[in-house]
Amino acid sequence: MSATQKAQVFRSFGLDQLKMEERDIPRPGAGELLIQMKAASLNFRDLLMVAGQYNPKLKMPMVPCSDGVGVVQEVGPHCHRFKEGARVSPIFARGWHDGPAFREMLKSTHGGPLDGTLQQYMLVPEADVVSIPDYLTDEEAAAIPCAGLTAWSAVVEKGPVRPGEKLLILGTGGVSMFALQFGVLSGAEIIITSGNDEKLERAKTMGAHHTINYRDKPSWEKEVYRITGGRGVDHVIEVGGVGTLEKSIRSVRPGGSIYLIGVLAGKEAPLDLTPVLMQDIRIQGVVVGSRRAFENMNQALAVHKVRPVVDKVFSFEETTEAFAYLKSGSHFGKVCIRI
Ligand SMILES: NC(=O)c1ccc[n+]([C@@H]2O[C@H](COP(=O)([O-])OP(=O)(O)OC[C@H]3O[C@@H](n4cnc5c(N)ncnc54)[C@H](OP(=O)(O)O)[C@@H]3O)[C@@H](O)[C@H]2O)c1
Repeated sequence: MSATQKAQVFRSFGLDQLKMEERDIPRPGAGELLIQMKAASLNFRDLLMVAGQYNPKLKMPMVPCSDGVGVVQEVGPHCHRFKEGARVSPIFARGWHDGPAFREMLKSTHGGPLDGTLQQYMLVPEADVVSIPDYLTDEEAAAIPCAGLTAWSAVVEKGPVRPGEKLLILGTGGVSMFALQFGVLSGAEIIITSGNDEKLERAKTMGAHHTINYRDKPSWEKEVYRITGGRGVDHVIEVGGVGTLEKSIRSVRPGGSIYLIGVLAGKEAPLDLTPVLMQDIRIQGVVVGSRRAFENMNQALAVHKVRPVVDKVFSFEETTEAFAYLKSGSHFGKVCIRI
């Protein structure tokens, strides 16, 4: 093993500030694993992080990305969960092993404030990694820790979405495609929106029952109303934030649930919350998930041999291009990087 490794690093904000740097390969201390990273995937959060829009006070230099998979290269003293050669993924928030989210965990997330997965070798406490199902390719495995687990937490842990229930999913990005796959496994009737007809056709082949182009039909909540015979859906996977929330509120049935996950359509807008109280609507925030939830999701993925939707794989040297591609919104599912 050489003593140095390559890592993608930004020292100031901006996509053009991402540079390949040489760093020492760390050695594992007690309870730590040295992981040789094989693949990473990009999340919208990583784009915001590099641009300085997620945390303007972020300490740099920083290695971006929370999601990745690798092989255990060296095991530190007092480790007993994993051996050399095991294929593992770091969890999103170190120390969050089970139970509800807690404030401190936000200070221990990979890809900001802790260094992330876009490096050849990564040191992680063995308590903060999970084993990865064999049937997944490295790129598929790299797609699941954040986007997959967030969708799982909404559809299965916070829901659950039950057979025959109506599930509305916004967009066809990383989280939304996993929500579609978990919605299909749950036996839901699925309505999906996108700004692109080709993506909607692909979503249909994956099991979506109804599609709406939100560009052709800006009042897409009326279309949801029509499709559901005026009843509304039982659940909404809300990735747009305040820019779409009012329409999601109008799409859900009285007593239904909205899983508030993202802010793709902006962070500020006037919002009429009256229907939320008048119709007993549940708005449930979702932040990724615990290690226990990740392990449960992996069991379900392995039983059903679910293949994460990987849109495009970039090389490690093409990281900036990969981010630009994610920013363009052309992708369907996940954008990955082979390390
Ligand atoms: N809370 C959490 O724990 C958590 C975890 C992961 C992600 N997130 C957040 O969830 C959101 C999605 O993340 P992601 O990684 O899945 O993003 P992504 O892969 O970049 O998804 C982007 C897609 O969302 C769709 N979209 C964009 N604007 C939209 C709008 N106004 N209405 C409906 N769809 C819209 C577009 O799909 P079409 O091209 O099909 O229109 C776009 O391609 C982000 O805000 C992210 O920060 C939160």
